[in-house]
Amino acid sequence: MTDIKKGLGGVVADETAISKVNPETNSLLYRGYPVQELAATQPFEAVAYLLWHGELPTDEQLAEFRATERANRSLPAEVKEAIDRLPLDSHPMDEVRTAVSVIGAIETAGITNVLDAAGTPSENLERSLKLFAVLPAIVSYGQRRRRGQEIVESRDDLDYAANFLWVTFGEEPDAVVVDAFNRSMILYAEHSFNASTFTARVITSTLSDIYSAVVGAIGALKGPLHGGANEAVMHIFDEIGTASEVSAWLDTALAEKRKIMGFGHRVYKRGDSRVPTMKAALDTLVEHYDRPDVAELYETLEDEFVSRKGIYPNLDYPSGPAYNLIGYDTLTFTPLFIAARVTGWTAHIIEQQASNALIRPLSAYNGVDERHIEGYVPDTAAVEVQERPEEAAG
Ligand code: COA
Repeated sequence: MTDIKKGLGGVVADETAISKVNPETNSLLYRGYPVQELAATQPFEAVAYLLWHGELPTDEQLAEFRATERANRSLPAEVKEAIDRLPLDSHPMDEVRTAVSVIGAIETAGITNVLDAAGTPSENLERSLKLFAVLPAIVSYGQRRRRGQEIVESRDDLDYAANFLWVTFGEEPDAVVVDAFNRSMILYAEHSFNASTFTARVITSTLSDIYSAVVGAIGALKGPLHGGANEAVMHIFDEIGTASEVSAWLDTALAEKRKIMGFGHRVYKRGDSRVPTMKAALDTLVEHYDRPDVAELYETLEDEFVSRKGIYPNLDYPSGPAYNLIGYDTLTFTPLFIAARVTGWTAHIIEQQASNALIRPLSAYNGVDERHIEGYVPDTAAVEVQERPEEAAG
């Protein structure tokens, strides 16, 4: 019997120097730094720089990086136009996916020889930074469009996180909100060979371009078993209503064998290392917005589910209610994940290009036995097994 690794569980597909997930010690390192330390001390721009360049920036490097990021924040007219043509009830993930695809078509216009599609490492670093810079405009415009609001222009005097909130809500954000949001971006930035990153690496391995890889990654992230879980958590919170309903709701959900979104993880089986940091950020928001009911529902569902199933929350569990308190629509949660994870995806795309091997696994066929079209006389030449020259020589 062929040993099949369904879902590639436990398969080590390649090496990476970008992040290290260690479920045994419950730790996650970005380029060697514990993610909790980065979330507590760094602006998201510095973490993006770290993921791409391998080191945290000096003050001078950060200033230069920020200047480029600020210069590329505006939504290009063609991208806005493409978004405006989509139905208002398109899913925002489809909207962002389309926007990135349009940007890719514009940025790579003129490259007609497919052998040049992949680009050089420095071209791809530049493309990564530009995508990172423009995604807040895309995500925030999507939410504003659905709410019937005009686009808000970015502000050059604000850092990435504060500007992201500014372009979404058109109000100067409070420092506590900026801090919680910045932490969430850092926690979402990178997580080794998760489904969307692996998708990006598969696409890159064919020598396709960085935009195609990011578009594919967005498709993978949309699913509720991956990024879509933060949106799904909020649907569950809305369904349950209040902490007093948790027990009865869980009885029914478990009897129906439903998956409880925001719990469980392919790699972490004893807790997700990012959750305590995000839960602490959520607590600051609960206090800021004076919403103890949210914390009560969160903690009651966690306690009940963990005690019944022994399955722990993942990052999407605290981030969903945090984004809700900040004022994001539930549908915007997974696009926020894109804005963060684009840093990790593009770091992996560049790493894959630097040491590429086409990703092409095998499958074990389990379909019907060979059969033939009645009356068809096979062309024997077409089924002849060809010898390879070295075999012939040997
Ligand atoms: N709710 C209910 N049961 C769950 C569960 C959840 N969130 N997560 C895992 N389980 C159960 C599975 O049904 C399975 O039960 P079984 O052995 O009786 O069939 C068992 O726990 C083992 O889980 P499994 O599906 O093998 O784990 P996995 O590694 O394949 O899946 C996830 C990991 C993330 C896909 C899974 O935990 C899940 O669907 N979680 C909800 C979605 C989510 O939050 N995704 C975000 C991930 S960061």
